[in-house]
Amino acid sequence: MYYIDNGEMVVLTKDNITIYNSKGEKIEKEKSVITWDMESATKAGYPHFMLKEINEQPQAVSDTLLRRIDKNNNLILDDIRLDEDEIQKIKDIYVVACGTAYNAGLIGKYIIENLANLRVRVDIASEFRYNKQFINENTLVILVSQSGETADTLAAQKLAKTKGCRILSITNVVGSSVARNSDDVFYTLAGPEIAVASTKAYTTMLVAFYMIGVELAKLKQEINIDEYHNIVEKLKKLPQKVKETLFVEKKCIEIAEKIKNSKSAFYIGRGLDDSVGKEGALKLKEISYIYTESFAAGELKHGTIALIEKNTPVIAVVTQDKLLDKTMSNIQEVKARGAYTIIITDKHIEDINNYADDVIQIPEVYDIFSSILAVIPAQFIAYYTSIKKGNDVDKPRNLAKSVTVE
Ligand code: G6P
Repeated sequence: MYYIDNGEMVVLTKDNITIYNSKGEKIEKEKSVITWDMESATKAGYPHFMLKEINEQPQAVSDTLLRRIDKNNNLILDDIRLDEDEIQKIKDIYVVACGTAYNAGLIGKYIIENLANLRVRVDIASEFRYNKQFINENTLVILVSQSGETADTLAAQKLAKTKGCRILSITNVVGSSVARNSDDVFYTLAGPEIAVASTKAYTTMLVAFYMIGVELAKLKQEINIDEYHNIVEKLKKLPQKVKETLFVEKKCIEIAEKIKNSKSAFYIGRGLDDSVGKEGALKLKEISYIYTESFAAGELKHGTIALIEKNTPVIAVVTQDKLLDKTMSNIQEVKARGAYTIIITDKHIEDINNYADDVIQIPEVYDIFSSILAVIPAQFIAYYTSIKKGNDVDKPRNLAKSVTVE
């Protein structure tokens, strides 16, 4: 590289670079060698985009959330132009998405059903057109897509439009195809996500569902105004709690060292924790190439427990008070069969060391919003396991960031 000063001129030809001063005289310049590449410049000092993006989550969550809350704890959802009359017409909701966005949709289902008392079905976008549909003008279809360009999601959108459904999309890309063809768009403000394994896009999708769930609950009068403000107050705490959760990194590095040679691994949990486990399993398998599945904890003994051998990693997510005892007893079942058990929890469980070989303690938040924190250790475990195996973390084999073919 040559540093060119004001007034100087450069003539570039196929074979030569000639530099002139402002008087038109030929000059010699000192050549500088750049040792970094463009890519590392945009990694802001992080070795990989994925690690950078994990660490950007407090900001991404804050941007997506706090800009939509006013000083009186009201949500400002200009993006969703549903009023109380329109919401009464909606009989059920379909959430349609692929991959990580689908996993976010599973959390969305729980949130909307429990807060707004509306029936929600979650469909994988590539299956949507072939499943039996019960959709019409009284159906709200929520499409979730980070890129807004996934072919299967677009095809589902086309079908939903022909049936007269109202379409709300959650996407990270302004003006994307999904956004352009929707009635309402909730933009997540995660910034560009470059690593194939999605992190900050997922957590900001959860923010979108939290806000949509709370707003629908208010519109449907399932919660009164005091409850509404109270929940919004709880939501406001999330960016800070996400930041605090990043401290689990060191513990996750130790765990990655212990699981890096495993041939398979499992996530277990109940309710919301089962859905977080699905995202955790996807993260781990896609970048570490360890075969990982996630199961509703109670389902283990109906088959999968046969796969548990000495030191098989089983990661349990335990954040739901009402399900705590049941999941703990499932952990005991696998531990008794030799599993290496790891518990991700925000609870202070007295005799936890009788159940867990390793514990990842995360900050406590309102139970219904715990998933946004519980996924962070899962992201770190996947990242460090992949690094320790020498894999290409940001560009895992056979995968693409945006899938534009069906
Ligand atoms: C690809 C990516 C996933 C992503 C999925 C859906 O498979 O590798 O990380 O979750 O597409 O992408 P979308 O842009 O629609 O959220």
